[in-house]
Amino acid sequence: MKNQVKIGIIGTGGIARAYARAYREIPEAAIVGLCDIVPGKADDYGEVQGFTNAKTFVDYREMLDKLDLDAVSVSTPNVSHSFITVDALQAGLHVLCEKPMSVTLEEAVDMAKAAKKAKKILSIGFQPRYDRNMQNIRKLVQSGVLGDIYYVETGGGRRRGIPGKSFIKKDEAGFGAIADIGCYSLDMALNALGYPKPLSVTAHSSDFFGRSPKYAGNWNPKEFEVEDFGTAFVRLEGGIVLYFKISWAMHLDSMGATFFLGKDGGLKCTPASTGNWGGAWDGSVGSITLYHDLEGHQTESPIPIQQGEQRNLFTDKVRDFVLNVQNNGAAPIPGEQIVRNQAVIDGILRSAQSGREVSIEIPEI
Ligand SMILES: NC(=O)c1ccc[n+]([C@@H]2O[C@H](COP(=O)([O-])OP(=O)(O)OC[C@H]3O[C@@H](n4cnc5c(N)ncnc54)[C@H](O)[C@@H]3O)[C@@H](O)[C@H]2O)c1
Repeated sequence: MKNQVKIGIIGTGGIARAYARAYREIPEAAIVGLCDIVPGKADDYGEVQGFTNAKTFVDYREMLDKLDLDAVSVSTPNVSHSFITVDALQAGLHVLCEKPMSVTLEEAVDMAKAAKKAKKILSIGFQPRYDRNMQNIRKLVQSGVLGDIYYVETGGGRRRGIPGKSFIKKDEAGFGAIADIGCYSLDMALNALGYPKPLSVTAHSSDFFGRSPKYAGNWNPKEFEVEDFGTAFVRLEGGIVLYFKISWAMHLDSMGATFFLGKDGGLKCTPASTGNWGGAWDGSVGSITLYHDLEGHQTESPIPIQQGEQRNLFTDKVRDFVLNVQNNGAAPIPGEQIVRNQAVIDGILRSAQSGREVSIEIPEI
């Protein structure tokens, strides 16, 4: 076998448990370093997850300095994705960074530039890309069967799904539902379209549920600092309009389907589950229907849903990253592409703040 890929995990909180499960199943990966800013947390994680040979650190820079690593997984809260990723790339390492890519567009651009300069892989953690039904949606949109696409509607919503913890703190998460689960909806739609350049956006956000004692769950409403709802009208290159809506909490079971309208056909995709924690596109696809005219007949063609797969999408995402590092491949979900996802989110937040349309300018990478 080729050399194992030596990996350090930075941020050993909630989602790092999914990383542990994944890395344990990937023989091509060796976890040699663990880092968490909270003293003792990386040690506890190493013990519980069975990475007992890994060295532990509280300062990721010390880990980059002291260990002979090939790559890092960045699973810290959003605000530190950018500077940790840039430092790791500059240290000559490949990076798998959690979603959303960053907080600001500027940070995302810095990350993509650093990857380009270092000639290293920077991949962003959108595991729904590995779902067969999601892949079919992209194939259908890319096949041309819809003709020229002029309108896309996407988004999602949980009836009660405010995550609490670091997710509601501005200085850790940076923003709320718009980026946390909205980035998945945007990735689903933009990836299917081939990631057209976003041009402008007008948006609105609110925080009624997060701040209301009436709906408080495992968080203190007085400490809720981000938005729990957002909606936007985004112009994309090629004359396409994207309408987006996202909610961590609402008086509704679902925000409805994601759909694509083209001159020759429409494609409607519904989420597999709705309700309290369902309804966002970090989950799976319930149905895909193609609407088209067949010999003059208005026709609806259901696209078969792949069900019952025992695969774990999170593990697929981590394995794809590791194998590409091992084989000198390319980033499976390239940071340079996801800069456009971040540009839309950045535009949404600027527009929501100013109450008017803003243009989106993405610096050259
Ligand atoms: N892909 C997915 O399915 C998925 C699911 C949940 C969360 N996430 C993403 O993963 C990230 C982390 O989320 P989480 O739920 O694990 O949060 P968390 O708060 O549970 O864990 C984050 C950990 O990072 C540590 N940390 C913070 N700053 C650090 C630094 N500078 N250096 C080292 N460690 C540091 C914290 O102490 C904490 O242990 C977020 O960006 C989130 O959006 C992705």
